[in-house]
Amino acid sequence: MGGSTFGKIWQFTSFGESHGVGIGVVIEGCPAGLEIDKTFIETELAKRRPGQSAIVTQRQEPDTCEILSGTMEGVSTGTPIAIWIANQNQQPKDYNHIADKFRPSHADYTYTAKYGIRDYRGGGRSSARETAARVAAGAIAKLLLKHLGVDITAYVSQVGHIIAPNVDHPSKDTIESNVVRCAHTVAAVEMEEYIKQIRKEGDTIGGMIRCVIKGTPAGLGEPVYDRLHADLGKSMLSINAVKGYDYGSGFDAVTMKGSDHNDAYYADNDGKVKTSTNFSGGIQGGISNGLDIYFRVAFKPVATIMQDQQSVDKAGKDVIVTGKGRHDPCVVPRAVPIVEAMAANVLVDHLLRSKTSKLSDVIE
Ligand SMILES: Cc1cc2nc3c(=O)[nH]c(=O)nc-3n(C[C@H](O)[C@H](O)[C@H](O)COP(=O)(O)O)c2cc1C
Repeated sequence: MGGSTFGKIWQFTSFGESHGVGIGVVIEGCPAGLEIDKTFIETELAKRRPGQSAIVTQRQEPDTCEILSGTMEGVSTGTPIAIWIANQNQQPKDYNHIADKFRPSHADYTYTAKYGIRDYRGGGRSSARETAARVAAGAIAKLLLKHLGVDITAYVSQVGHIIAPNVDHPSKDTIESNVVRCAHTVAAVEMEEYIKQIRKEGDTIGGMIRCVIKGTPAGLGEPVYDRLHADLGKSMLSINAVKGYDYGSGFDAVTMKGSDHNDAYYADNDGKVKTSTNFSGGIQGGISNGLDIYFRVAFKPVATIMQDQQSVDKAGKDVIVTGKGRHDPCVVPRAVPIVEAMAANVLVDHLLRSKTSKLSDVIE
């Protein structure tokens, strides 16, 4: 029952709908004493917010937030942290025409099948507006991770057929310097033009996000069902419009031989165990090994296109669905902060859980 809560110790529950009064999140498990920088939360929200550039939906939401509880004088108190993000630019009338119709490849039919009632205003709960809550929780998780030197960087690596050349050291400044959030500036220009062209055609296009996590300590992950990569995978697959996730060598491992794929161990000058390659993606046996964790997330071309489409209504009658309202032609630029936020939420949860792995951690 209920799928709005995520995590075991670092646990957050989101609520709210796209065209309701707002979106909120309640975070439990945040240790007392963490400085909660509201400006940082809003900076993260701004990267996800609609209306941020010409290649995303033109819904204008400032996405400022209010911290309702769980902090005193800017520091967490160990009690539930509630954050509220008001909706300010709802236009539910944009959706009157689909109140009884099922938009192809959207969540309309399945929500109706499950609940018998559907909030048709912008998709209600199924809207990616919910992801603002994840980003707010993830921002606080990032503040905690900063203390450990853990750094998460996600960026767009592909839009449609345009694949950005590999970037060894993706720079956050470069990623934020272009509206696509691509780590490769030349590819970013091509991607931007392509998204604009797709929008003109009244269509949408898919894309890929790559994420690299540096500085994760060895030992995070809870075998066997809560392996670190499994929880990262679930968190990514829970994001709207995600079609796939792989980590480390991922699907490319299928064509490799063990002799090529094995990551040879060595000890560095400080005696720290490392590997000379990292096809494992920083995780072995479901537990982080201290090397970079990296993974990819594939997004579909989203369902709302500005074209007439064949469908049926609630009564099962043939209807034509017409694209209307404000929509994203390609979601990956806005999904970058969501991917980072969910990765941060998973890492903090596992960090806190790892504190019960050894007796020495429990009684020290
Ligand atoms: C950042 C972001 C923005 C999105 N914007 C739109 C949009 O403008 N139009 C649309 O049809 N879907 C959009 N989606 C995707 C839908 O929320 C999603 O496809 C829908 O709820 C059905 O869920 P599913 O694709 O995961 O099966 C967006 C997704 C994300 C992550």
